[in-house]
Amino acid sequence: MSGNPKKVYVGMSADLVHPGHLNVINEARKLGEVTVGLLTDEAIASYKRLPYMSFEQRRTVIENIKGVSRVVPQETLDYVPNLRTYKPDYVVHGDDWRDGVQREVRQKVIDTLKEWGGELVEVEYTKGISSTQLNKSLKEIGTTPEIRMKTLRRLIDAKPIVRIMEAHNGLSGLIIENLKVTQKTSPREFDGMWLSSLTDSTAKGKPDIEAVDLTSRMQTVNEILEVTTKPIIYDGDTGGKTEHFVFTVKSLERLGVSAIIIEDKIGLKQNSLFGTDVPQTQDSIENFCYKISMGKKAQITDDFMIIARIESLILKKGIDDAINRAKAYIEAGADGIMIHSKEKEPAEFLEFCCEYKKLERRVPLVAVPTSYNVIYESELIDAGVNIVIYANHLLRSAYPAMVETAKMILENERAYEVNSKIMPIKEIITLIPNGI
Ligand code: SPV
Ligand code: MG
Repeated sequence: MSGNPKKVYVGMSADLVHPGHLNVINEARKLGEVTVGLLTDEAIASYKRLPYMSFEQRRTVIENIKGVSRVVPQETLDYVPNLRTYKPDYVVHGDDWRDGVQREVRQKVIDTLKEWGGELVEVEYTKGISSTQLNKSLKEIGTTPEIRMKTLRRLIDAKPIVRIMEAHNGLSGLIIENLKVTQKTSPREFDGMWLSSLTDSTAKGKPDIEAVDLTSRMQTVNEILEVTTKPIIYDGDTGGKTEHFVFTVKSLERLGVSAIIIEDKIGLKQNSLFGTDVPQTQDSIENFCYKISMGKKAQITDDFMIIARIESLILKKGIDDAINRAKAYIEAGADGIMIHSKEKEPAEFLEFCCEYKKLERRVPLVAVPTSYNVIYESELIDAGVNIVIYANHLLRSAYPAMVETAKMILENERAYEVNSKIMPIKEIITLIPNGI
């Protein structure tokens, strides 16, 4: 091309590069010099699942494709900030974004380009292949422990808040893996799973007092790992004796679990939501720090996370105690802090968050809004929370439904009456397809 080549802008995620991408780049280079606006992990996570490859890996691939002059980060799904910076003569895109989540994005591209006489050129969608399809196939292949483990840290970096839901068996894991809702054009799903001690114990008919041993808990973890790809945060209760905790860390890390949360209690652990109604003893800062540091030494990778859970608010020890502990636990190597509260209102929790924000050294903050469930995720984000855990809700919804059905059958001496309350046979026999 001679003289002043036209400026052509192509926005893409380019995770699983396929002939469709190459076709778009090929068409773009016919029009001038191609700049690829490569969507960052944050931009992609704002509307769909995290890409498999990191930004740098994707950049390396795209930079080396014939016809690409340079690669720049596109930090939002919205093209406008980059378009205003680079003022391209053309934007080239596949014509498959006219409907769905990208419809509005497309319209804004057209409107913005008009400001300097630029033009949107749409290339016919390459049939028979798409990133969505490839993603689906990849999901069928599954994941590896390493990829799964790393995903939690990547999500924390890429999302305003990481949304975690409790799972206690393969089926509840599958719900979290596959469920999506679309709220105003923006699709939403859970990012990962919480291996709650409360729901794992309850599902096994045992109290939440560390009576379900590690072998049995691991069986639940394995059951869920087998049918899902999303990251797992394991509820490690007190972590047990330090000498035992180091083995738990190694086992979880080997399986590809992303994080363990341990709470700073000793003696017979009871569920935190009993508060001070039952005797519960907090560990000394010194002991708990030792446990954290030994756990950190035991892990093999840099990816696995040990998150320290502070029980000061549960035990009515006050905000200052909680903050002091946060400082000490971070110093000891904790990769995250979980602050728990059983108040109905979020006031004390928010006060902690406010003080936590002032700390010089901070790590990701985890909240479990079971009691103070009035709080919205947007408020948690404002408070500085990085991970929200819905800790028990799937099991709490399943149990009353099961009791109700059992009761109706007993009362009616037949099962006909429960028909309208339960899923049809046709649905249950096809719920889990062959060979997933
Ligand atoms: C769990 O889900 O087991 C937890 C959170 O540890 S809580 O039940 O609130 O203590
Ligand atoms: Mg628990």
